[in-house]
Amino acid sequence: MKVLVHSDDAEQWRDALAKRLPDAEVFTSSAPAEKRREADYLAVWKPSAELLGEPARLKGIVNLGAGVDALLNNPGLPAGVPIVKLRDAGMAELIGDYVRYGILHFQRDFDRYRRQQARHEWHEHTVIDKSDWPVGVLGLGAIGAKVAAMVAADGFPVHGWSRSPKQLEGITCQHGEAGLDALLGRVKSLVLLLPDTAETRHIIDQAALAKLPEGASLINPGRGSLIDEVDLLDALGPDSEGQGETEGRLRGALLDAFTEEPLPADSPLWSHPRLWITPHMAGPTPLGEALDQVAEALRAFEAGEPIETVDRDAGY
Ligand code: GLV
Repeated sequence: MKVLVHSDDAEQWRDALAKRLPDAEVFTSSAPAEKRREADYLAVWKPSAELLGEPARLKGIVNLGAGVDALLNNPGLPAGVPIVKLRDAGMAELIGDYVRYGILHFQRDFDRYRRQQARHEWHEHTVIDKSDWPVGVLGLGAIGAKVAAMVAADGFPVHGWSRSPKQLEGITCQHGEAGLDALLGRVKSLVLLLPDTAETRHIIDQAALAKLPEGASLINPGRGSLIDEVDLLDALGPDSEGQGETEGRLRGALLDAFTEEPLPADSPLWSHPRLWITPHMAGPTPLGEALDQVAEALRAFEAGEPIETVDRDAGY
């Protein structure tokens, strides 16, 4: 089989995959056009529309990431070709650490201490016990479920929400619209790990933010489209030009994903004193386990064995 690899670190993937699949011919997207046209499979992260459309007899695509939104929205995506995506593959633990950092940031008042430091002010806040700090996790796929378990293991009560009903040990699981409202009404930190689909777009808008308890915090290592960024700024309060002393309904947010990435230099999000911005770094794809999953997917495709593929209509 001929496998074309495309990603920021394509050479590394090519070499590692070639070792793992000695019978395969593995090459990167910098190969000549006639070679690219012969590819049986693509193992890709954010390919161009041209690249997706090139292979004449494509048998399968492996998405070198967890989210398939970029791939499914790519106008070059050929119809009918099965897609496999990475599931967790080491990303969940990295994202879990990011989320735990974010929760502790607010629960242990690091945001407030930072502002106090600017004023040289020594003042200790009473610690709210973890057991009184409910955390909501929206999205209970491979990543969300693991992150929820990590947060629960830390001692926080965790409420999880998914589109369809799920049962996860140690997590209070909710689903559907009523379940979402109930969850929003009681969490002190809300974590977003839903896929980017037509149904999840702006799921966190003015109405949803208004349901959060006063002083709740938001952590988004998922997708920027989940949040209406204008409504988010509104909920943070009026002090975008100040030092962030006046906490609005929403105490603050740690954001790793944005509607437009890279976040444009003139975005007002950059300078809001109660926003913490990171450049989509919460869950990079580590090669190790991901490599196993990609090699296994290609092997199963080629052997004609059943394999869990992406539901293009659902969007994940
Ligand atoms: C990263 O954002 C991914 O979807 O893997």
